[in-house]
Amino acid sequence: MDLFEKLLQNRGPLGKHSKMAHGYLTFPKLEGEIGPYMEFKGKKILNWSLNNYLGLANHPEVRKVDADASAQFGLGYPMGARMMSGNSDYHEQLEAELSEFVGKEATYLLNFGYQGIMSAIDCLLDRHDVVVYDAESHACILDGLRMHIGKRFVFAHNDIAGLEKQLQRANKIVEETGGSIMVITEGVFGMSGNQGKLKEIVELKDRYSFRLLVDDAHGFGTMGKTGAGTGEAQGCQDGIDIYFSTFAKSMASIGAFISSDEQVIDYLRYNMRSQIFAKSLPMPLVIGALKRLELLRTKPELKDRLWEICTKLQSSLREKGFNIGTTSSPVTPVILKCDENQVAKLAIDLRENYRLFCSPVCYPVIPKGLIILRLIPTALHTESDIEITVKALEEIYVKLRNNEYISSEYAVL
Ligand SMILES: Cc1ncc(COP(=O)(O)O)c(C=O)c1O
Repeated sequence: MDLFEKLLQNRGPLGKHSKMAHGYLTFPKLEGEIGPYMEFKGKKILNWSLNNYLGLANHPEVRKVDADASAQFGLGYPMGARMMSGNSDYHEQLEAELSEFVGKEATYLLNFGYQGIMSAIDCLLDRHDVVVYDAESHACILDGLRMHIGKRFVFAHNDIAGLEKQLQRANKIVEETGGSIMVITEGVFGMSGNQGKLKEIVELKDRYSFRLLVDDAHGFGTMGKTGAGTGEAQGCQDGIDIYFSTFAKSMASIGAFISSDEQVIDYLRYNMRSQIFAKSLPMPLVIGALKRLELLRTKPELKDRLWEICTKLQSSLREKGFNIGTTSSPVTPVILKCDENQVAKLAIDLRENYRLFCSPVCYPVIPKGLIILRLIPTALHTESDIEITVKALEEIYVKLRNNEYISSEYAVL
């Protein structure tokens, strides 16, 4: 079959509806405060799919620092990889502050989270090593594992007994190869909102020899007393050997970091391909991240507000009988029984008739017959936003039960 034809056939349920759903949300041309809104064809849409947990993207101090740093340096500096001409005092300051905040000896900045963690996995492991990882790990972890040429064993999501079995298998292999074992999981899983069972995993170190890498993209800034992440929340931060997070969620920016023992970070600095052979993080992003980190540390009211909104959203949904799974974080999945072919029409109805947007998730990301409407609350959402949203979801639910999203002409606007 022709490659292009095959691609068209494999578009999946959302792709097949792309003609109906065509167009992208954009930001309204508002000065200053934007809030949790976007625009679609001139209509204001309340958005529950923004990577801005603490509202820092809209914070006036952040906006000023971003603008001043861009005016001073532009987006061009520095003009090389970190090892060559891409270093600055600001980069080093940010690394030092992040290390202190997450309680690790050293930190290495990464220009993107996705490539960063892939490359870290590639760099830290060789063919003698065995990786044991949670089945619901993010795509960037799975892609990192594709580069690993040694063995990898998966355990069912958060199944500690399953993990233990895989550790026993892994142990036998490394006894032969002379390699080591790495366990990879997440702090907060971005689809279910479940926390990884970090404490229980760390406790397994009493019986098995392994190092633990945690991707805490959704936990950094949202979890734990100080916002230092899911390890802090579960009281086991010290047991995380390699801590990774991105600036793309709580920090509402671009970039990422990885923290560990000094010698591990030093090793990464001189061996990690995605950083050695790529330009380092631009100055405005580094200076902007310093400001964001300062606010994250010194303004706990931002996290408190996020949790207020999150608690209200989740309790309102539960009160109305919605299934939001087993989330224990701000990530709020509304799980509905629905054929995946109806999901695009449902999302269009939400957008066009209720002025709401949240991420629709369907097969093959989750099993057939279910969809998830994933809501990400932020410190900028209000109680009234929650009321409007829950009411809309109740109406959507009735339409779904009445099979209104099956008819082919529905919602083609
Ligand atoms: C769990 C997880 N890890 C890594 C990433 C990738 O980070 P970035 O957006 O910085 O590439 C994401 C998405 O942002 C994520 O959700």
